[in-house]
Amino acid sequence: MPRLIRAALERAGVEGADRVSSGVDVVGDIAIVRLAGFSAPEKQKIAGAILGEMRNVRVVLEQEGGIEGEFRLRKLAHLAGERRTTTVHRENGCAFRVDVAKAYFSPRLSTERLRIAGLARPGERVLNMFAGVGPFSIAIAKVAGVKVTSCEVNEAAAELHEANDRLNKVEDLVTVIHGDAAELPDVLAERFDRILMPHPSESHRYLPAALRLAKGEGTIHYYRHVLGKDEAEAAAALRGELRGLLPEGARFCSRRVREVGPRWVEMAADIRLPGHKRGAGGRVRRRRGAG
Ligand SMILES: C[S@@+](CC[C@H](N)C(=O)[O-])C[C@H]1O[C@@H](n2cnc3c(N)ncnc32)[C@H](O)[C@@H]1O
Repeated sequence: MPRLIRAALERAGVEGADRVSSGVDVVGDIAIVRLAGFSAPEKQKIAGAILGEMRNVRVVLEQEGGIEGEFRLRKLAHLAGERRTTTVHRENGCAFRVDVAKAYFSPRLSTERLRIAGLARPGERVLNMFAGVGPFSIAIAKVAGVKVTSCEVNEAAAELHEANDRLNKVEDLVTVIHGDAAELPDVLAERFDRILMPHPSESHRYLPAALRLAKGEGTIHYYRHVLGKDEAEAAAALRGELRGLLPEGARFCSRRVREVGPRWVEMAADIRLPGHKRGAGGRVRRRRGAG
């Protein structure tokens, strides 16, 4: 928890401020807190303290429970400040319109987005299978100046993504497909140099589709929540999972992105595919024009 908020809670006389353990997510001018275990008056005091201490915050919402469902949404309740769930969040020189009640957005991934944007090379074709309101895709288009195809199943998120493309002046570089990423191999004729899979609770189910969409020697950025008491244990769990999913000759390195719960870690694997492709079942799938 930021020291500022801890001090404010102590001044407001809220006992057990340590229990606001997962910190505060600040998305634009909206602060989102998890306050399980606090009474209603304590929640009001905490929200008031946040509004008073964080000058950029105009809305305080409580997140009840985890991030859930196909669209990865938070269940939110209004605590203090203006009554809205929409805002504009700025990071890495980009601006994102967000509706925190209708579309997924986490401010905690900005470093990872910048890392991926820094890897894209001129002329590459990039696919983001789980694009949300566009933070990865737009950062890549803006930083690397390359074309990105985004896919997103949540219509509200896809609409915000398109608005964000215009807001960041990358609408000529980014195409948004509103649909199911599993169907992309049948919809897209093109194959990609770099594929992003930022859907860490479900990405394993879509890896076969990503393998069909990647060029030979292409790269897949695979995100996954794994159990592990430390990075080494989480990396071993990820290795075990990928061993059964990747074609022969694929190589990867992994890194810890962030902690997502007690003993749960979000890991990223940068997977480099072999020059000619084999499907997960071992069949050779050569395609015209594929590396
Ligand atoms: C964890 S969020 C990540 C969003 C975005 N990449 C970001 O970092 O903000 C996963 C996203 O995948 C979308 N999604 C879930 N299943 C999908 C599917 N089958 N096809 C396309 N998008 C899907 C969800 O709606 C959600 O926006």
